[in-house]
Amino acid sequence: MLNHINIKEVNCLKSGKAKNTVPIWLIGTDGFKVWKKKLSKSEQTWVNAHDFTGSHGQVLVFSNDKGAVSAVAAGCALEENDPWLFSTIAQSVPDGSYHIESELEGNVLKLAAFGWAMAHYKYDHYLKDKKVKKAVLYVSKKCDLKSVGSLVRGTALARDLVNTPTCDMGPDELADVAKKLAKHFKAKIKITKGQELLKKGYNTIHTVGRAAEKEPRLIDMIWGNEKSPKVTLVGKGVCFDTGGLDIKPSGSMLIMKKDMGGAAHVLGLGQMIMESGLDIRLRILIPAVENNIAGNAFRPGDIIKSYKGTTIEVGNTDAEGRLVLCDALALASEENPDLMMDFATLTGAARVAMGTDVPPYFTDDKNLSDGLMKHSTLEHDPLWPMPLYAPYKKLLASPIADINNVGSTGFGGAITAALFLKDFVGPDIPWVHLDVYAWNVSARPGRPKGGEAMGLRASFDYLSGKYGK
Ligand code: BES
Ligand code: ZN
Ligand code: ZN
Repeated sequence: MLNHINIKEVNCLKSGKAKNTVPIWLIGTDGFKVWKKKLSKSEQTWVNAHDFTGSHGQVLVFSNDKGAVSAVAAGCALEENDPWLFSTIAQSVPDGSYHIESELEGNVLKLAAFGWAMAHYKYDHYLKDKKVKKAVLYVSKKCDLKSVGSLVRGTALARDLVNTPTCDMGPDELADVAKKLAKHFKAKIKITKGQELLKKGYNTIHTVGRAAEKEPRLIDMIWGNEKSPKVTLVGKGVCFDTGGLDIKPSGSMLIMKKDMGGAAHVLGLGQMIMESGLDIRLRILIPAVENNIAGNAFRPGDIIKSYKGTTIEVGNTDAEGRLVLCDALALASEENPDLMMDFATLTGAARVAMGTDVPPYFTDDKNLSDGLMKHSTLEHDPLWPMPLYAPYKKLLASPIADINNVGSTGFGGAITAALFLKDFVGPDIPWVHLDVYAWNVSARPGRPKGGEAMGLRASFDYLSGKYGK
């Protein structure tokens, strides 16, 4: 399945100078007039004819008298740190070799290279025509292509996993991907499945996944030095979410192959971490299930005894993500990790609050929150804090069990879901929950419609800052 990754070698990026590469001029709005004056009369006519004003995101391709591309001009507000501008440029130019005329440095250069590479991402596994764009960007030696490659591959892995339909990305296949990763990076992996889940007490994972053809399971991967700080990533691996007996309408069910987006995120992030050799003891936990319907499906009103011992009344079988996550979070908490992050396509309510592109995160840890926000801005990778507002906890009360899996009102649904998860996290563990959509609803340069990694670069950058060598 890892063969799905299209940009394996990131061969659209090369280091150093080469002969005959086409220059890309980055034009700030301020510098536009000066730049234009230096052009020939015919070039100025070309600029006018295309209403090119140097505004951010505008791209103009110049050709010589032989019809070959001679230069590219792009409107660019560099301070915006926007990688997708470079996807726009890559997508607007024909295949060939290019270099950026301006001196870019540090993070701007890294994000430019990342954006350029992502313009070459295409999920073409099921297509006869696998023609992929090949515009090569030569970047200065200052650009660390190894770390750019790591960001690109981690993002592409997350996208590929989400894009793969459930017929080829069920709990079996998701576990296979984790096994391949573990083998590649010499990590330990343990998979507990089917009846074994019940023996160990992972009852919520079994209950949600028991009606599916492919057995529910818990993937547990461990990598790195035992003595290093313990970072645990937990990802929602609902390979398909029908809603269960509280079945989803067809329009909502249509894209529910993406409900393992959290798992895709932690595998993508895990790959980045292991490739760059961060000094941590990494653990990845993925409850992998299908929330399906059959005679043995769990029902609204059922009560499940969780791994932690808390009894949960099922108010809605469609709130299955928090159910499978709660056993994984309780297990993760047993060893008191130094940091715990979970990624989940958890609620529609998070989309109502934030739209599809801004994942909210929830944490009580101020340092963690500030750190994530800082790196979200630096990486141009949107995230926004939402509160773990304790008084809403009472909305999860049940008269016959310790907790209900849904709020008694629909209000504040992303918050009540996060509060439910918090109940299963050890009291002093720095923990953050990210409610990600994991999907681009429409195509933009570098971001085709379909699976998307959200908050991944921000999280990786945050972790690199904290645990990097
Ligand atoms: N997988 C969904 C969340 C979801 C829905 C994410 C649509 C993105 C788009 C989750 O399992 C779910 O169905 N949640 C319910 C919870 C409700 C029943 C309390 C929701 O958000 O509607
Ligand atoms: Zn659901
Ligand atoms: Zn779900």
